[in-house]
Amino acid sequence: MASQFAPLIFLLYCLFLHQSCLQLSEARVRNLQKEEHGDDHLRLGVENGDVIDPEMNVFFHHNDLVIGNRILIYFPRKDRSASPRFLSREESESIPFSRSQFPEILDFFKFPSDSEQAEAMKMTLHHCEAKPIKGERKICATSLESMLDFVQAVFGSGSKFQVLNTEYLTESFSPLQNYTVREDPSEIPAPELVSCHRLPYPYAVFYCHAQAGDTVVYKDLLEGDDGGRVDSAAICHMDTSEWDPKHAGFRVLNTRPGAAPVCHFFPVDSLVFIPK
Ligand SMILES: *[C@@H]1O[C@H](CO)[C@@H](O)[C@H](O)[C@H]1NC(C)=O
Repeated sequence: MASQFAPLIFLLYCLFLHQSCLQLSEARVRNLQKEEHGDDHLRLGVENGDVIDPEMNVFFHHNDLVIGNRILIYFPRKDRSASPRFLSREESESIPFSRSQFPEILDFFKFPSDSEQAEAMKMTLHHCEAKPIKGERKICATSLESMLDFVQAVFGSGSKFQVLNTEYLTESFSPLQNYTVREDPSEIPAPELVSCHRLPYPYAVFYCHAQAGDTVVYKDLLEGDDGGRVDSAAICHMDTSEWDPKHAGFRVLNTRPGAAPVCHFFPVDSLVFIPK
């Protein structure tokens, strides 16, 4: 499981948890240089000797989302049936979910402590217990009920919302390829939004966080060079002046804090909630 999720989780950390991305990113750059030396297909986006992971091709410029335009995008292949299911709130609350109880958790799932699963779970717990970054509200939802409670707590109880996500309209396609914007993207103003990203765990766990700010959300139809179609959800952060200069988005888009919006497509395992 861990190896299957490795690129995805790396991506999520880079998109949403800037600090950890830095550390992970450096480690991965070292690994890539060590393991994949001379292997050109993994050295896409090499600039000034800097290796950018192929998975980092989710960022785009605000003016890229124009009908007919081609964008290089990484959408990981996804076997939906392999995604762990949600437990009910009762079930999930009966299982420990904290780093301090990690030995009990491993025992419960019968994973050896040196297994890849254990590593991935430890990382998930670590990020669930990390303090929110400035201005962020977050939870790790271990059930659908707790996810919806969080959404209601952010938007106000009883408020209506809509959910957006990225969907593959056709099944099989190459993860990294050029996509053509096929329809005029619909632009959805999002003064407030909650995005939830799946983390690796034996049952469904989503890292949900609320962001207020200068954002615009898009839905658009993309068609890959191989004909694969993706109904994609994307977001543009219009004001990046407070961001860490080392954010992966700046590196991929070759820009800097405050100079330009940073936009990215959502991976297929994320849910975006917007007030209606
Ligand atoms: C994407 O398109 C660009 C520009 O046409 C091209 O240079 C690049 O090789 C393409 N990449 C892939 C993975 O097809």
